[in-house]
Amino acid sequence: MTRTVYLNGEYLPETEAKVSIFDRSFLMADGVYEVTSVLGGKLIDFDGHLARLERSLNELDMEKPEAFDDLLDIHRKLVELNGIDEGMIYLQVSRGSAGDRDFVFPDPEETKPTLVLFTQNKPGLADNPVAKKGIKVISIEDIRWGRRDIKTVQLLYPSMGKMAAKKAGCDDAWLVEDGQVTEGTSNNAYIVKDGTIITRNLSQDILHGITRAAVLRFAREAQMQVEERPFTIAEAQAADEAFYTSASSFVMPVVEIDGTKVGDGKPGPVAKRLREIYLEESVKSGI
Ligand code: PDD
Repeated sequence: MTRTVYLNGEYLPETEAKVSIFDRSFLMADGVYEVTSVLGGKLIDFDGHLARLERSLNELDMEKPEAFDDLLDIHRKLVELNGIDEGMIYLQVSRGSAGDRDFVFPDPEETKPTLVLFTQNKPGLADNPVAKKGIKVISIEDIRWGRRDIKTVQLLYPSMGKMAAKKAGCDDAWLVEDGQVTEGTSNNAYIVKDGTIITRNLSQDILHGITRAAVLRFAREAQMQVEERPFTIAEAQAADEAFYTSASSFVMPVVEIDGTKVGDGKPGPVAKRLREIYLEESVKSGI
């Protein structure tokens, strides 16, 4: 089926949506993005994604697209036009096309941002069988730039990390800097030890996950202990459980790290419970 996508004010068949070869996201990775999940036709954590988008734009001194205040309507219209029950909406804003290649930012009065949104239909996203088995990760050095709190489209190293994992017969990679786990290639990383949930504290070293914020809130509401601090791969391998969170995977149990089983090598009770709570609560509050 041909998707209907959104490009700079227009809803178009995906084959007709065209962006300039001079667009700065294409030439310079000068763009930011968000991924919002859809469950039961509703947008999950939409306000959080919108707030983070605004922050990413501010941090990069990038203009808000003209349609910024209409983004909820645009998301909803794409869900409707494409008949999405479960899936994701991808949104990207770039600094636009100044009609040439130049390192210097174009004048925002003359060059307007490019705004693109498209849907990804994923029936069965909430009931993903992978979450029942858990996934295996490898660890790799985190050599990304130092502003990982900004959700930019510079995703080459995360892609390379996923490919390294695949090559090793695993599903994903956790990134390690100065001996401590920062986050996953496209998710936030957690371990559980003696009932305490441990995840890296927020800083410029990691993306401030919207799912992370919701999951930690639910965990605290359920009287679970939470410690926000870095941890090592050795500590994760010796933990009772491990898991990760993201808008597209929700809460995903991690059962093996660098070939070592975590706990009994099966998804643990804390990850299972948090996945249930997250899905239940976020569907309830979806808009
Ligand atoms: N990735 N850390 C990184 C590096 C990420 O790319 C993501 C999200 C997260 C989790 O953030 P959130 O809970 O807000 O989705 C953490 C998205 C899903 C992606 O690139 O597809």
